[in-house]
Amino acid sequence: KVHRIACIPGDGIGTEITEAAIQVLTTLQKALGTFELDFTHFDWSSKAYLERGWYMPPDWADQLRKHDAIFFGAVGSPDVPDHISLWNLILPIRKTMNQYVNVRPTRILEGTTSPLANVKRGDLDWVIVRENSEGEYSGQGGISHEDTPNAIATEVSIFTHAAIFRLMHFAFRTALSRPRKHLTLVTKSNAQRHGMVLWDKTFAAVAASYPAVTTDKMLVDAMTVRMVLQPSSLDTIVATNLHADILSDLAAALAGSIGIAPSSNLDPERGNPSMFEPIHGSAPDIAGRGVANPVGAFWSAAEMVRWLGEEKAADTLMKAVEEVTKAGVKTKDLGGSENTKSVTEAVCREIEKA
Ligand code: NAI
Ligand code: MG
Repeated sequence: KVHRIACIPGDGIGTEITEAAIQVLTTLQKALGTFELDFTHFDWSSKAYLERGWYMPPDWADQLRKHDAIFFGAVGSPDVPDHISLWNLILPIRKTMNQYVNVRPTRILEGTTSPLANVKRGDLDWVIVRENSEGEYSGQGGISHEDTPNAIATEVSIFTHAAIFRLMHFAFRTALSRPRKHLTLVTKSNAQRHGMVLWDKTFAAVAASYPAVTTDKMLVDAMTVRMVLQPSSLDTIVATNLHADILSDLAAALAGSIGIAPSSNLDPERGNPSMFEPIHGSAPDIAGRGVANPVGAFWSAAEMVRWLGEEKAADTLMKAVEEVTKAGVKTKDLGGSENTKSVTEAVCREIEKA
């Protein structure tokens, strides 16, 4: 079976880790021989924007819809304000392609450790389900008296029952698919009394349809403490666009490094291609040096082929990644001394052995 993949490497280390992921996926396809990946490359990046004045052409959505999935690196450049780069590339894709959930698994991989001594491998095995279509990232609001001392801005969060309801069903199904069957709701419904209360109520209503799932709820500030001090008490976590964005970086850091964590932007109805990307950004501080950790991109690639129905390929890839980390072949962010290329080659060799 041929899967058509749209590749958007983007900026900075996005290009480096995307190249590594394609190398690993190509090795995987050759080793298994059960499927084929057909990559199309799109040079939609801040670099291109600075040269020609646009990120994506007018027919970008039609172009992406010709593919079965999208693999994304990262976007962001010191030479372009971040709200311009995000709102011209990644956010319109998530919204237009109806990718209303963002799934962010985190665990401590073999041969790696948490920076916190109290957090042992196995204690931290979470899936964060992030609302990906509205909330704090709705883009609603405006500014008056801009660039004057009287400037007033509004950044309006939008919470709809329809979006929360479909997200909650996805979160409960995710919890149900995991051994612990436990779902934690994160809100800030003490201080934010409208949208967050709608989250609480919708969660409670949907919970009634999933009696096999145990639940609890946390305010987001207290949640940061629980993640650090009682990681084994958590399993599946559902949170808003902003809260889950922040908590998933914390989760990745607790699991070893932001460089390992994957994310799946899913259209669960499969009417559009879903998009897979590591959670990290373009990391201008290390870009161009070949030292970026490619594991987040490999894990994202594994989630992508799993979404496309290639379970065995996904398992083979993750097993190869963990054989490599277990052997101590790790980049600096994980305490190792290897680089993007040597980790990539080690993973390819493991795949070829499989
Ligand atoms: P970042 O994730 O790019 O970097 C944060 C820190 O983690 C840096 O010290 C970086 O070196 C390190 N890091 C990140 N990924 C790594 C990897 N694979 N291996 C080793 N170390 C890694 O976040 P930051 O610095 O806040 O943002 C940089 C740019 O990326 C900005 O322009 C931002 O808007 C953009 N960004 C884009 C995202 C996306 O494309 N989805 C997500 C987050 C940020
Ligand atoms: Mg983020």
